[in-house]
This record gives sequence, structure tokens and C-alpha cells, in this order.
Amino acid sequence: MRVNRWSKTASAALGFMFLMTASRCTYDNIEDRTGSGIFCDTSAVSFSQDIESIIQQSCEGCHNGISASGGLNLADHQNIQSAALNGLIMDRVRRPLSDPLSMPPNGPLSDCNQKKLRAWINQGALDN
Ligand code: HEC
Repeated sequence: MRVNRWSKTASAALGFMFLMTASRCTYDNIEDRTGSGIFCDTSAVSFSQDIESIIQQSCEGCHNGISASGGLNLADHQNIQSAALNGLIMDRVRRPLSDPLSMPPNGPLSDCNQKKLRAWINQGALDN
């Protein structure tokens, strides 16, 4: 009797741990809660829906045309893709504001926009 009750408790505990692990997975992969309490959906990030506007709003003012800052033009997909795939973009975007190499120089991208950028780059930085 005692043994039986104990094993029920143990399997309930195991089941609980499994649920916690499974739900944590969902939490990490599909929707991340940002500090502001807004859901950040990184499950279907695309260039046209998400990334293009982030770059236009936060980067293109300086990284545009023949006099682009740092010689880096981020005005079209092809240029953005090559900077993304060789690691340049995430390297600069992830740096803290206290680092003089941090981009954009006047304040970091939101957590959610950084996650979207990373998700898009991990999927090949496609023109999608
Ligand atoms: C206010 C102007 C300004 C904005 C906005 C800006 N940058 Fe920059 N960026 C610069 C300047 C100036 C440099 C050159 C100095 C340096 O390397 O830090 C630079 C350099 C870079 C470099 C290095 C280029 C290389 O070939 O070494 C990367 C990568 C970069 N920026 C990415 C970004 C991204 C991504 C954004 C948007 C999230 C952004 N920048 C927004 C001014 C800006």
C-alpha cells in the first residue's frame, strides 16, 4: 500500500516536471514574453513583414547610399542579407549601449526586434 501511494506521488511529480519542461519549450520557441508584457511572435518572421521596417526605421538613415556610414549600405535585401549572414549585424546590435560599437548608436533595438532579427538570420536571411 505505502509503496503504491509513493509511486503515484512520484509519477505525479514526474508528470508535473514533464509539463513544466514541455511548456517552457513552447515559451522559448514560439512566443517570447518581452519585458513590456507584449507577446513577441518569432515563429513566422519574414523580411517583408518584419525585418525591412526594422532596418528602415533604425538603420537606413545612416546606412544608405554611396556615403553610407561605415561603408555599409543597408538599403536593400541583398546588402542586408550579406551583412546578416557574415555576422556583422547581430554583432553590433547585441552590444550594450555603453559599447561605442553598439548599433544603432543612439539606443538599442527592442528585445523583440532583436529576437526577430536573430530568428530571420537563423533561417537564412531570406527575401521572404
Ligand atoms: C546614427 C547613425 C547610425 C545608425 C542609425 C546606425 N548606424 Fe551602424 N554605423 C554608423 C557609423 C558612423 C558606423 C561606422 C563606425 C563604426 O564602425 O562603429 C557604423 C557601422 C556599422 C557596422 C559596421 C560596418 C563594418 O563593415 O564594419 C554595422 C554592422 C552597423 N553599423 C550596423 C547597423 C545596424 C544593424 C543598424 C540598425 C539596427 C545601424 N547600424 C544603425 C552609424 C549608424
